Amino acid sequence: MTKPTLSGFTSRAIHHGYDPAENQGALTPPMHMASTFAFETAEQGGAIFAGEQQGYFYSRISNPTLDLLELRIAALEGAEAGVATASGMGAITAVMWTLLKAGDEIITDKTLYGCTFAFFRHGLAKFGVKVTHVDLTQPAALEAAMNPQVKVVYFETPANPNMRLVDIAAIAEVAHAHGAQVVVDNTYATPALTRPVERGADIVVHSATKYLGGHGDLVGGLVAGTAETMQRVRLEGLKDMTGAVMSPFTATLIMRGLKTLALRMERHSATALRIARWLEAQPQVAAVHYPGLESFAQGGLARRQMALPGGMIAFDLAGGYDQGIRFMNRLQMVIRAVSLGDAETLVQHPASMTHSTYTPDERAAHGIGEGLLRLSIGLEDAEDILADLEQALAASDIALAA
Ligand SMILES: Cc1ncc(COP(=O)(O)O)c(C=O)c1O
Repeated sequence: MTKPTLSGFTSRAIHHGYDPAENQGALTPPMHMASTFAFETAEQGGAIFAGEQQGYFYSRISNPTLDLLELRIAALEGAEAGVATASGMGAITAVMWTLLKAGDEIITDKTLYGCTFAFFRHGLAKFGVKVTHVDLTQPAALEAAMNPQVKVVYFETPANPNMRLVDIAAIAEVAHAHGAQVVVDNTYATPALTRPVERGADIVVHSATKYLGGHGDLVGGLVAGTAETMQRVRLEGLKDMTGAVMSPFTATLIMRGLKTLALRMERHSATALRIARWLEAQPQVAAVHYPGLESFAQGGLARRQMALPGGMIAFDLAGGYDQGIRFMNRLQMVIRAVSLGDAETLVQHPASMTHSTYTPDERAAHGIGEGLLRLSIGLEDAEDILADLEQALAASDIALAA
């Protein structure tokens, strides 16, 4: 029977690239826990190594379980091909070691996840790549900063942790006019809400640890882009330079997570919107940064670029850092933890945790407030999340006044 081409996002997340009839009828794809693959003959082994014949030979290069996940992320991102990696940082480093060399320049937005910032600032710089931070919310600022050495323009949207958005199409237009490639970290939005390749980006990277896995039980990364670039990332960045290969077991868990991604993003978004609105109405809260709020400065872009506003909220308490610490310590159901995109609602303090890789001066220059708190809204009932936030806020306020 011919398999239909599936137009729906969730249908593709469930079925794309897999036929039970080719796998002894197994409903879910088998997990190929094999490090190496047998050759029928020595000649065949040589031909596969030489690229003259298709086939598997070693799981640092490719593996049937990883292949399926790579097909699925490509189908969901609207890209030609994908590469699976051991972590989000594995994805980012494999892409950068492939695209950049000494003497090149990378332009990145001001706000980046802390370890991405550290990798660019210290890792890439150590090997002779110039790193320039530009406010990419302003495409004109990118135009002014472009020069022939710039090979990559890199950003997150929404950015971790302060929720700034970057207009993918506008930035891609400027970058491409100057011959640079655009790499977007789509961890926060996921392809269920934003598909950067469809808006002109060349490469998408993910921490699959977050929403794609969705259950807080794995660390993984994914890359999507053209077949040619993904082959380069696989052979240069992944095979030879980082070796940051995903386990087939992790790939199986991520494929399970992908089946419910769109459903989960709907629930994360609906609950987060309710909580962001509630937070905004509290006298102890100085500012709430959430793309679904009427007060969000980049509301027009949020509506154009995001199908839903997502599950991440950043906010500042009027009492600053001290009140933030008290508030976090009084939470009873909401969990104090980094990472995001899980079923559990998580809270963390970027300045002392995920973004402690910045110096205080760097945080000030890059728009990451010392008192900012980050909430990853989970899948619990909204009433329970609200009740916990309410009691913690009330209690921390009393403590502040004492
Ligand atoms: C936006 C973003 N990109 C990349 C990463 C790195 O991913 P991983 O922790 O899977 O290496 C993270 C981790 O928090 C992140 O939040």
